[in-house]
Amino acid sequence: MRRAYIAGNWKMNHTPSEAKKFASELKRALEENKIDCRVMVAPSFVDLPYVIEVLKDTEITVSAQNMANHTSGAYTGEVSPIMLKDIGVYTTILGHSERRMYYSETDEIINSKVRLALNEKMEVILCIGETLEERESGKLKEVLKRQIEKGLEGVKSDEMKAITLAYEPVWAIGTGKTASPEDADEAQGYARSVVESLYSKDIAENLIIQYGGSVKASNVKALMAKENVDGALVGGASLTIDQFLPIITFNK
Ligand code: 13P
Repeated sequence: MRRAYIAGNWKMNHTPSEAKKFASELKRALEENKIDCRVMVAPSFVDLPYVIEVLKDTEITVSAQNMANHTSGAYTGEVSPIMLKDIGVYTTILGHSERRMYYSETDEIINSKVRLALNEKMEVILCIGETLEERESGKLKEVLKRQIEKGLEGVKSDEMKAITLAYEPVWAIGTGKTASPEDADEAQGYARSVVESLYSKDIAENLIIQYGGSVKASNVKALMAKENVDGALVGGASLTIDQFLPIITFNK
């Protein structure tokens, strides 16, 4: 039985003061509502200490959006997993399509981050997903297979419990176009089968696979009703309590 896992990726939004205020609203909403799923938020690096402080007595996971592939040293502008752990962050998103597209992160770089995070006993949400061009040219499966195989290269079976996959079709991110629940289910079922072939049926069946790309209150239920959709990685609609609360209470 896979527990639903809803995550909010704030991307480069919310200043520290806005983040603190929003985290307090989230905390209050959690006290007033029964939440049946795991909830995570991923603020920017500078917001993290403030959000951690506000959410410290709650069950909300606070995650980074990215991290360096080194623990320390001459890497100007980077943030290491050791630094994250020191402030109480034990989860990170890796391989988001915006990192792949705008910051040239390759499957190899992403894999080195995945392995370092696991070495540091951190949890990872590994993002995968095809562009519109790849989908339209029939390369969906090829792309997902490559991203999973390369992203997880060297990851041992016993480390897979620290991995969540997020299927985020690039064409559905921030565009208002959501993959249909059937499309999401099909792609995620395929991703699960790739994990099964790399590891085992048991590991594949226990793997949480989130869907991301224009998730909102109006479509979350239909997406979550699908067999292979175990959660959501939400961007725009995770930024205000009015939009995020109906998503994290989708199963009420
Ligand atoms: P949107 O929900 O804004 O489409 O973003 C999805 C996403 O990229 C989450 O990581």
